[in-house]
Amino acid sequence: MLENALRARLPLITVTTRDPLASKMVIDSLAGRKDTKRCSGQLPSGKLPAGITFYVVGGIKLPDNNTFEKLEAHYKTGEVSVVVVNPTQVLPPNFYDAGEMPTPPRLVENVVRKIVGKDNVEKVIPALGGLTLKEVSWLMRLASAMHGEITRETLTDARRTSFPAPAGLQQIDAEMGPYMPEKPLRRWAKAELPFFIDETDHRLRPRGLLLEGLPGTGKTMAAKWIADQLSIPAYRLHCGSLFNKYVGETEKAMVQALAQVDRDEPCVLLLDEVEKIFGGSGGPTGESITKNVLGELLWWLQEHRTRVLTIMTTNGKRDLPKELYRPGRIDETMLFSGVTWSQALILASHIAKSYGSHHLTKANLHPAMVALFQASGHKVNEGGMGWLGDPKVTQASVSAAVVKAVKAKIAKEK
Ligand SMILES: Nc1ncnc2c1ncn2[C@@H]1O[C@H](COP(=O)(O)OP(=O)(O)OP(=O)(O)O)[C@@H](O)[C@H]1O
Ligand SMILES: [Mg+2]
Repeated sequence: MLENALRARLPLITVTTRDPLASKMVIDSLAGRKDTKRCSGQLPSGKLPAGITFYVVGGIKLPDNNTFEKLEAHYKTGEVSVVVVNPTQVLPPNFYDAGEMPTPPRLVENVVRKIVGKDNVEKVIPALGGLTLKEVSWLMRLASAMHGEITRETLTDARRTSFPAPAGLQQIDAEMGPYMPEKPLRRWAKAELPFFIDETDHRLRPRGLLLEGLPGTGKTMAAKWIADQLSIPAYRLHCGSLFNKYVGETEKAMVQALAQVDRDEPCVLLLDEVEKIFGGSGGPTGESITKNVLGELLWWLQEHRTRVLTIMTTNGKRDLPKELYRPGRIDETMLFSGVTWSQALILASHIAKSYGSHHLTKANLHPAMVALFQASGHKVNEGGMGWLGDPKVTQASVSAAVVKAVKAKIAKEK
């Protein structure tokens, strides 16, 4: 918004930023010139309310008066813009509110290039979406101090642990334990993710997935795994801080949270257990607010052109409004089910390996798996090699059974 306002030479503009010291550099870059002047409190030839910092773009041709109204009339020539950054008082309505000051990618690239070198710029940029120049340099120093190197992964991790998540959003820890993505997910990721970061034609970019399945089948982990594959931040829409009892406030918070993920692109947006938000029972303030909030989300899911991959999870699609998951908003629904006997054995030994010296062999795991399947009502043949019926055993229960078996092994060895 600010870039267009400057290029259109709107006379009076206001903008907010978390990095006011970079304002001149950013405004110059967005306006495509280098003559922005910083003024404080008053114009050189006329007074303005004290305590206001503003920038004059386009050369100072000053009137002999001191009110914003007169300034506006003076600057109607379209040659000069006055930009008030982080106003400390209420401005008259003839100011154009350009929202938050963006950080031009070319300035971020300049900062990054100096630190990681020309060849690595493209690799780390995706971890820096939505940050100001000051935050970019802080984050690089933090990543280097915490991990000894600056990569997309270390930046994403430092960002999660050292920077507060934007309001209404919670940055999730994409760091994960042993995870075995199922075939359909692996296939989808291989085919689609290469189109996510680099593709300039937004129509070719994947938009997202709905993951449907029983509790404990690895849906939330799948979302983390996708963010991990891309090494970009993942945000969970945090409904607790979104819902507000005042009419209109919840919609506003939703719009702001979505605008924030747009600014922080590229990123993954997780709508976890989406039926709890939009499943028809309504939010804490009732049905109509939930409908309006849904309307805002539906609009954004369809219209956004930013590199935001939306992953929704649900225990049951039947509770969801159909328009939420139709093509155009997300790409497809993926079903998550429990594990069969042979899948459980593979998963259990994969998880067991992650316990290092305490890991269990397949022979050790066998009895634990037999007990798990029997407890879930399955018939297991002698030796445990047979398996009958629908998968009722979940990945979460396999993982829990392995934990139990590892603990038993440690206790025995003591
Ligand atoms: N594919 C997998 N590989 C390894 N472990 C898994 C896998 N899927 C699930 N798990 C284990 O199951 C646990 C629960 O997974 P997750 O939280 O992703 O389930 P969920 O489907 O989101 O459940 P809910 O619907 O209750 O939120 C994980 O912490 C992990 O221990
Ligand atoms: Mg979950």
